[in-house]
Formats: sequence, C-alpha cells, structure tokens
Amino acid sequence: MRVLVTGGAGFIGANFVLRTAARRSEVRIRVLDKLTYAANPATLASVADTVELVQGDIADAELVDSLVADSDLVVHFAAESHNDNSLSDPSAFVQTNLVGTYTLLEAVRRHQVRFHHISTDEVYGDLELDDPARFTEHTPYNPSSPYSSTKAGSDLLVRAWVRSFQVPATISNCSNNYGPYQHVEKFIPRQITNVLSGVRPRLYGDGRNVRDWIHVDDHNDAVWTIIEKGTIGETYLIGADGEVDNRTVVETILELLGRPRDAFDFVTDRPGHDRRYAIDSTRLRTELGWQPQYVDFRSGLSATIDWYREHESWWQTAKDAAEQKYAVTEKVLG
Ligand code: NAD
Ligand code: DAU
Repeated sequence: MRVLVTGGAGFIGANFVLRTAARRSEVRIRVLDKLTYAANPATLASVADTVELVQGDIADAELVDSLVADSDLVVHFAAESHNDNSLSDPSAFVQTNLVGTYTLLEAVRRHQVRFHHISTDEVYGDLELDDPARFTEHTPYNPSSPYSSTKAGSDLLVRAWVRSFQVPATISNCSNNYGPYQHVEKFIPRQITNVLSGVRPRLYGDGRNVRDWIHVDDHNDAVWTIIEKGTIGETYLIGADGEVDNRTVVETILELLGRPRDAFDFVTDRPGHDRRYAIDSTRLRTELGWQPQYVDFRSGLSATIDWYREHESWWQTAKDAAEQKYAVTEKVLG
C-alpha cells in the first residue's frame, strides 16, 4: 500500500509515520511537507532509509497531482496549527488550510484516491465550564479563531467533494494531543521546557480553561481504525475523556519536575480564548471498536516530561525562536 502523508514532519504526522513504519511493513510511506518553522526533519531521521521525504507545498497543484497519482491513500495532517500565530497573521492559515486542502481534494478527485482528513474539535467552538454537553458528530460548527475557522472550512470542502464528486474520504476531529515531538510553542511542551530552562510556566487568563487531552499514539491508532473500518463520507470524533484545566496541567508538570506547585505566572490572555473543549467519542468506540490506551493522563505527562528532558537538542533552537515570538505580545500580570 502506497501512503502519502502530508505534514509528516510535524508533531502528529511524524508520530503517525514513525508508528506506521514500525508496525506496518506492508505500507510504503512518502511524506509531503513544506518544512515550515513547525517541522523538524530530524524527527524522521531514524526512518530515512524507508520513508521518502518530499519537501513541497500542498498548494502546489502540479507536485500534488504527481504524488497523489502514485498513492493508494492520502492521510492529510499538513496545516498551520497554532491559534496564537493565527491571531498575529492569518494569511498562511487561509492559504494552507483552505487552498492546500482544496488542491489535495482536486488531485484525489482526479485519481479517485482514498483520502483521510485530519481535523480538530475546535471547529465546534467552545463550551461553558459547567455545560454537561460534549461535542458529538452532530454538534453545529461554530469556530472562534482564524485557525479553527480555516479548519472548519477545510472540513466543509471535504464534505462537499464527497457529495458532489464522490471523493472517497473520511474526516476525524480530535481533541488536544500531547506526547513526544510536539513543537515547543504549544502549551504542554512550552511549560515543560520552561521549567527545564529555569523559567516559570505561563498561564493565559485565569488558567481555568479546559482542554480534553489525548496521547498522540491514541489519536494515530484511531486514524488507522477509521481508514480501515470507517464509512466513506462520515466524520468521527476522537477523544479519550481527558478533560483537565490548564492550571492543573501546569501544577502537575511543576510537581513532576520537583518544583513548588505555585511556581508559575499568569500572563495576558489569548484574544477570543475558547473556554472548554470536550469530546464524546462514543461513535468511534461503539461502531469501530477503538479504545484509548493512555487512560492515565498523569503517567502520560510524566513520560512526555522524560522525553523532553532527554531530547534537549531536538527542541532548543525552536524554543529560542518561539519565546522570542511570545515576548512581543505576552505580559506577566501582577
Ligand atoms: P504541526 O504544526 O506540528 O505540523 C504541521 C506540519 O504541516 C509541519 O510539518 C509543517 O511543515 C507542515 N505544513 C504546514 N504548511 C504546509 C504546506 N503548505 N504544505 C505542506 N506541509 C505544510 O501540527 P500538528 O499539531 O501535528 O497537527 C497536525 C494536524 O492535526 C493539523 O491538521 C491539525 O489541525 C490537526 N490537529 C491537531 C491537534 C493538536 O492537538 N495538535 C488536535 C487535533 C487536530
Ligand atoms: O483542540 C485541538 C487543538 O488543540 C488543535 O486543533 C490545535 O492545532 C492545537 O494547537 C491545540 O489548540 P489549543 O489552542 O487548545 O492549544 P495550545 O497548546 O495553544 O493551548 C492549550 C491551552 O493552554 C489553551 O487554553 C491556551 C493555554 N496556554 C497556551 C500556551 C501556549 C497557556 O495558558 N499558556 C501558554 O503558554
């Protein structure tokens, strides 16, 4: 089976490539990645003999057409993925998340290639802290940020291409991922690497915002489950019942690293900051039989801390660049 993985040098895509290469010898993997600031080609060094890395843009129609023509399956992870960046400059988000996805859809339409689109729970907007509801496949779209609105738009493009052109596609919307190889601009690796660098963790707003954490391996196993057992044209929500507020995450990181639990700072809030996300993944579990393996967030977090402690050379350069960006807008409060 020939699989084209877009965004395979980023966090979730690279974990997908490494896990697939280790477990599925029948799969020939080719990665298409623009190698933006978010990518780290070093992540794929251990599979360089078997995985081909093509540096290129998913919005490059000619390149995409030739790669899709030589594939049986496209797994589409590539995106501009960070909300804070989308607030300072949305242009790359529109280009990659919308035009890039459109370009891939036209190629899979021409060649009738199976397509799986990776998306996010953020397309559903946010929930109040005390709302008993969780997101399901039937929740109306209500995105808040330039990032989530472009992901919502890309999902709608996929649905339209399925209905209008019979493109054989599925969609998954997953909650917040954590694990190895995540860029240090994101919340959990930022706070871990802050503490490892002797800097206090930084909480936006009041720190009570809730995210629904899932280990990246559980996400990627769910993706394979949907590819193999899912129904064409359908959407599946991926989540592992991992709701935790941001303050608790920071306190746990500090505790696991042997620091006082209150050794953090509050900083200026993210504009339009979504309050809470929560996924109901009943459909994926009951219809397709997927179950998460990482059910204890604290031990998954502890293993992730160990990984960052042992891989400083992987993150140090990106850390300096990310903190320079944050320094422009972020102010420590009180
Ligand atoms: P990431 O930012 O770590 O990686 C994105 C990758 O896409 C990078 O390697 C980057 O170089 C590549 N890329 C960006 N623009 C490109 C372009 N125009 N052409 C080709 N490659 C390009 O992102 P991630 O966190 O791994 O997220 C991967 C996917 O999963 C995204 O679609 C994201 O919306 C979705 N998602 C992420 C999470 C999460 O918690 N991180 C949760 C749910 C869904
Ligand atoms: O829900 C899925 C989404 O999760 C994905 O679609 C996105 O690609 C991914 O980036 C993530 O989005 P979030 O905005 O939830 O993730 P982020 O890591 O940026 O922030 C997580 C929470 O932590 C959020 O409430 C903001 C807060 N935060 C973030 C940073 C970077 C802080 O309090 N301090 C920080 O320094």
